[in-house]
Amino acid sequence: MCLVSLQTEEALRSINKETLFNFLKKSKHESGGFYMHEGGEIDMRSAFCALSTCVVVGLPLEEISEGVAEWIISCQSYEGGFGGEPYTEAHGGYTFCAVASLVLLNRFRLADMESLLRWTTRRQMRYEGGFQGRTNKLVDGCYSFWQGAIFPLLDGEMEREGRSLEKGLFEARMLEEYILVGCQSIHGGFRDKPDKPVDLYHTCYVLSGLSIAQKYSLARDGKILGGDVNTLAEINPVFNVTVASEQFAKEFFTSQ
Ligand code: FPP
Ligand code: ZN
Repeated sequence: MCLVSLQTEEALRSINKETLFNFLKKSKHESGGFYMHEGGEIDMRSAFCALSTCVVVGLPLEEISEGVAEWIISCQSYEGGFGGEPYTEAHGGYTFCAVASLVLLNRFRLADMESLLRWTTRRQMRYEGGFQGRTNKLVDGCYSFWQGAIFPLLDGEMEREGRSLEKGLFEARMLEEYILVGCQSIHGGFRDKPDKPVDLYHTCYVLSGLSIAQKYSLARDGKILGGDVNTLAEINPVFNVTVASEQFAKEFFTSQ
């Protein structure tokens, strides 16, 4: 995704699709999941990483997708969100990976949509406005993306079923406020929460979450927090790269 984000032919040309595809195929486990690395753990992160990599560079998804959707569904917990492995606690990071993977596979219909909707919509904190990663835990800015990106994915799937909700499934303005006021340091950069130091991981995922929140705010009342000067580039919520970068890559790999 970093190479895709560079948005140059030189960056995309540097990807060896043949060896990459061999690596993806080798990472597949008979359960339907993927290893994080040779001999490593099998969890939801690797399923998402393998599938999104495959799709973004235009490799044939059907050759690595057997049993993957079923393995992902086996990780949906009684709460409605997804855990990293079967029988583990529902968590925003893994739920994003699961939902985005099911969307990529065009198998979202396998998920229990009602409990997923219930779990996801209850992760926004009433007071702080940001998201928590799991039930009864604290707000954290990075979930602005991990949880926040699930909404456009769900909206897309609901629309396909003719069930779109006019006002969106979360309070976008409250999320904008948590990010710009609570997560932003006056010295630059973004953080998990106000008493934490800034870091690049949180800066990346907080800004991606802000881009999503701005899109919902604009759709709702035509305005974003702080005015147009704060407008971020639109991101593709599956890949977490800008729509422009994703389209550039798509055109590049299709024309090859
Ligand atoms: C809990 O940490 C964190 C996890 C169980 C993993 C989170 C997973 C992701 C963020 C997804 C990663 C995805 C890819 C593609 C690499 P914690 O107990 O410190 O946090 P918490 O209190 O917020 O649950
Ligand atoms: Zn975090």
